[in-house]
Amino acid sequence: MKTDITQALVNEHRLILRMITLLERNAPRTADGSYTNLQFYLDGVDFIRSYADRFHHAKEEDVLFEALITNGMPRENSPTAAMMMEHVEGRAFVAAMESATRESLDGQRGREQTIADNALAYAALLREHIAKEDEILYPLAERIIPDTMRDSIIAGYEAAEKRAAVGFAAHYEAVVAGYEQEQR
Ligand SMILES: [Fe+2]
Ligand SMILES: [Fe+2]
Repeated sequence: MKTDITQALVNEHRLILRMITLLERNAPRTADGSYTNLQFYLDGVDFIRSYADRFHHAKEEDVLFEALITNGMPRENSPTAAMMMEHVEGRAFVAAMESATRESLDGQRGREQTIADNALAYAALLREHIAKEDEILYPLAERIIPDTMRDSIIAGYEAAEKRAAVGFAAHYEAVVAGYEQEQR
Protein backbone atom coordinates (compact mmCIF):
# COMPACT_ATOMS: atom_id res chain seq x y z
CA MET A 1 0.00 0.00 0.00
CA LYS A 2 1.49 3.31 -1.07
CA THR A 3 1.74 6.16 1.42
CA ASP A 4 -1.07 8.58 0.64
CA ILE A 5 0.22 12.03 -0.33
CA THR A 6 -3.02 13.91 -1.06
CA GLN A 7 -5.63 13.01 1.57
CA ALA A 8 -4.26 15.59 4.03
CA LEU A 9 -4.70 18.27 1.36
CA VAL A 10 -8.21 17.04 0.52
CA ASN A 11 -9.08 17.38 4.22
CA GLU A 12 -7.81 20.97 4.23
CA HIS A 13 -9.99 21.63 1.18
CA ARG A 14 -13.02 20.58 3.22
CA LEU A 15 -12.42 23.34 5.77
CA ILE A 16 -11.68 25.87 3.02
CA LEU A 17 -14.96 24.86 1.31
CA ARG A 18 -16.84 25.47 4.56
CA MET A 19 -15.51 29.06 4.55
CA ILE A 20 -16.45 29.38 0.86
CA THR A 21 -19.99 28.25 1.69
CA LEU A 22 -20.16 30.96 4.36
CA LEU A 23 -19.00 33.59 1.86
CA GLU A 24 -21.67 32.41 -0.60
CA ARG A 25 -24.32 32.53 2.12
CA ASN A 26 -23.42 35.92 3.61
CA ALA A 27 -22.26 37.98 0.62
CA PRO A 28 -25.64 38.30 -1.15
CA ARG A 29 -27.18 39.32 2.17
CA THR A 30 -24.50 41.95 2.70
CA ALA A 31 -25.28 43.29 -0.77
CA ASP A 32 -28.99 43.57 0.06
CA GLY A 33 -28.38 44.97 3.53
CA SER A 34 -29.61 42.03 5.59
CA TYR A 35 -26.19 40.83 6.85
CA THR A 36 -24.19 43.59 8.45
CA ASN A 37 -21.52 41.79 10.48
CA LEU A 38 -18.52 43.02 8.50
CA GLN A 39 -16.12 41.45 10.98
CA PHE A 40 -16.99 38.19 9.19
CA TYR A 41 -15.17 39.43 6.07
CA LEU A 42 -12.07 40.45 8.02
CA ASP A 43 -12.04 37.04 9.71
CA GLY A 44 -12.61 35.46 6.29
CA VAL A 45 -9.64 37.38 4.87
CA ASP A 46 -7.48 36.22 7.78
CA PHE A 47 -8.63 32.61 7.28
CA ILE A 48 -7.92 32.71 3.56
CA ARG A 49 -4.51 34.36 3.93
CA SER A 50 -3.33 32.25 6.83
CA TYR A 51 -4.97 28.87 6.39
CA ALA A 52 -5.77 28.61 2.66
CA ASP A 53 -2.81 30.54 1.30
CA ARG A 54 0.16 30.46 3.68
CA PHE A 55 -0.57 26.98 5.04
CA HIS A 56 -2.37 24.94 2.36
CA HIS A 57 -1.14 26.61 -0.84
CA ALA A 58 2.42 26.54 0.50
CA LYS A 59 2.19 22.76 0.91
CA GLU A 60 1.01 22.50 -2.68
CA GLU A 61 3.49 24.93 -4.20
CA ASP A 62 6.58 23.98 -2.20
CA VAL A 63 6.01 20.25 -1.83
CA LEU A 64 3.43 18.46 -3.99
CA PHE A 65 3.75 20.57 -7.15
CA GLU A 66 7.56 20.41 -6.93
CA ALA A 67 7.30 16.62 -6.72
CA LEU A 68 5.11 16.59 -9.84
CA ILE A 69 7.67 18.75 -11.66
CA THR A 70 10.47 16.40 -10.59
CA ASN A 71 8.41 13.62 -12.15
CA GLY A 72 8.11 15.23 -15.53
CA MET A 73 5.43 17.90 -15.30
CA PRO A 74 6.68 21.08 -17.03
CA ARG A 75 7.11 24.07 -14.72
CA GLU A 76 5.52 26.45 -17.26
CA ASN A 77 2.26 26.06 -19.22
CA SER A 78 1.25 23.06 -17.17
CA PRO A 79 -1.51 22.10 -14.73
CA THR A 80 0.63 23.12 -11.74
CA ALA A 81 1.43 26.47 -13.39
CA ALA A 82 -2.32 27.00 -13.92
CA MET A 83 -3.04 26.16 -10.28
CA MET A 84 -0.36 28.60 -9.10
CA MET A 85 -1.83 31.31 -11.30
CA GLU A 86 -5.22 30.74 -9.65
CA HIS A 87 -3.61 31.06 -6.21
CA VAL A 88 -2.38 34.51 -7.35
CA GLU A 89 -5.78 35.47 -8.83
CA GLY A 90 -7.46 34.60 -5.54
CA ARG A 91 -5.20 37.01 -3.66
CA ALA A 92 -6.46 39.96 -5.74
CA PHE A 93 -10.11 39.24 -4.83
CA VAL A 94 -9.16 38.90 -1.17
CA ALA A 95 -7.27 42.20 -1.18
CA ALA A 96 -10.26 43.95 -2.79
CA MET A 97 -12.67 42.34 -0.32
CA GLU A 98 -10.52 43.52 2.57
CA SER A 99 -10.14 47.11 1.41
CA ALA A 100 -13.86 47.50 0.69
CA THR A 101 -14.65 46.06 4.14
CA ARG A 102 -12.23 48.44 5.88
CA GLU A 103 -13.61 51.41 3.92
CA SER A 104 -17.13 50.46 4.96
CA LEU A 105 -16.07 50.10 8.60
CA ASP A 106 -14.43 53.54 8.32
CA GLY A 107 -17.81 54.99 7.37
CA GLN A 108 -17.77 55.02 3.59
CA ARG A 109 -21.19 54.31 2.18
CA GLY A 110 -22.09 51.93 -0.58
CA ARG A 111 -19.16 49.53 -0.27
CA GLU A 112 -21.37 46.47 0.37
CA GLN A 113 -21.76 45.50 -3.28
CA THR A 114 -17.98 45.54 -3.79
CA ILE A 115 -17.45 43.41 -0.68
CA ALA A 116 -20.04 40.94 -1.94
CA ASP A 117 -18.77 40.88 -5.53
CA ASN A 118 -15.21 40.08 -4.46
CA ALA A 119 -16.29 37.53 -1.86
CA LEU A 120 -18.38 35.71 -4.48
CA ALA A 121 -15.67 35.96 -7.14
CA TYR A 122 -13.17 34.41 -4.72
CA ALA A 123 -15.67 31.71 -3.74
CA ALA A 124 -16.36 30.78 -7.37
CA LEU A 125 -12.66 30.73 -8.28
CA LEU A 126 -11.67 28.59 -5.30
CA ARG A 127 -14.59 26.19 -5.59
CA GLU A 128 -13.60 25.42 -9.20
CA HIS A 129 -9.91 25.33 -8.27
CA ILE A 130 -10.46 22.82 -5.47
CA ALA A 131 -12.59 20.63 -7.73
CA LYS A 132 -9.78 20.52 -10.32
CA GLU A 133 -7.25 19.57 -7.66
CA ASP A 134 -9.46 16.97 -5.97
CA GLU A 135 -10.67 15.37 -9.19
CA ILE A 136 -7.73 15.73 -11.58
CA LEU A 137 -4.42 16.94 -10.18
CA TYR A 138 -4.30 14.98 -6.92
CA PRO A 139 -5.34 11.67 -8.54
CA LEU A 140 -2.63 12.31 -11.16
CA ALA A 141 -0.09 12.89 -8.38
CA GLU A 142 -1.11 9.63 -6.70
CA ARG A 143 -0.55 7.83 -10.03
CA ILE A 144 2.78 9.28 -11.08
CA ILE A 145 4.75 10.05 -7.93
CA PRO A 146 6.86 7.02 -7.03
CA ASP A 147 6.89 5.34 -3.62
CA THR A 148 10.48 6.41 -3.04
CA MET A 149 9.50 10.10 -2.94
CA ARG A 150 6.51 9.78 -0.68
CA ASP A 151 8.17 9.92 2.71
CA SER A 152 9.93 13.14 1.81
CA ILE A 153 6.60 14.66 0.67
CA ILE A 154 5.01 13.80 4.02
CA ALA A 155 8.08 15.28 5.75
CA GLY A 156 7.59 18.44 3.68
CA TYR A 157 3.98 18.74 4.87
CA GLU A 158 5.10 18.19 8.46
CA ALA A 159 7.70 20.92 8.14
CA ALA A 160 4.97 23.30 6.94
CA GLU A 161 2.83 22.30 9.91
CA LYS A 162 5.70 22.90 12.32
CA ARG A 163 6.18 26.39 10.90
CA ALA A 164 2.56 27.17 11.88
CA ALA A 165 1.73 28.23 15.45
CA VAL A 166 0.58 25.64 17.99
CA GLY A 167 -3.18 25.17 17.66
CA PHE A 168 -3.20 26.86 14.25
CA ALA A 169 -5.58 24.45 12.49
CA ALA A 170 -7.86 24.12 15.53
CA HIS A 171 -8.13 27.90 15.74
CA TYR A 172 -9.30 28.20 12.13
CA GLU A 173 -11.72 25.30 12.48
CA ALA A 174 -13.23 27.13 15.44
CA VAL A 175 -13.50 30.37 13.45
CA VAL A 176 -15.42 28.57 10.67
CA ALA A 177 -17.63 26.67 13.12
CA GLY A 178 -18.42 29.91 14.94
CA TYR A 179 -19.71 31.60 11.81
CA GLU A 180 -21.64 28.49 10.78
CA GLN A 181 -23.56 28.83 14.02
CA GLU A 182 -24.12 32.56 13.70
CA GLN A 183 -27.77 33.60 13.86
CA ARG A 184 -29.19 34.27 10.46
FE1 LIG B 1 -4.35 25.01 -4.98
FE1 LIG C 1 -5.64 23.08 -2.80
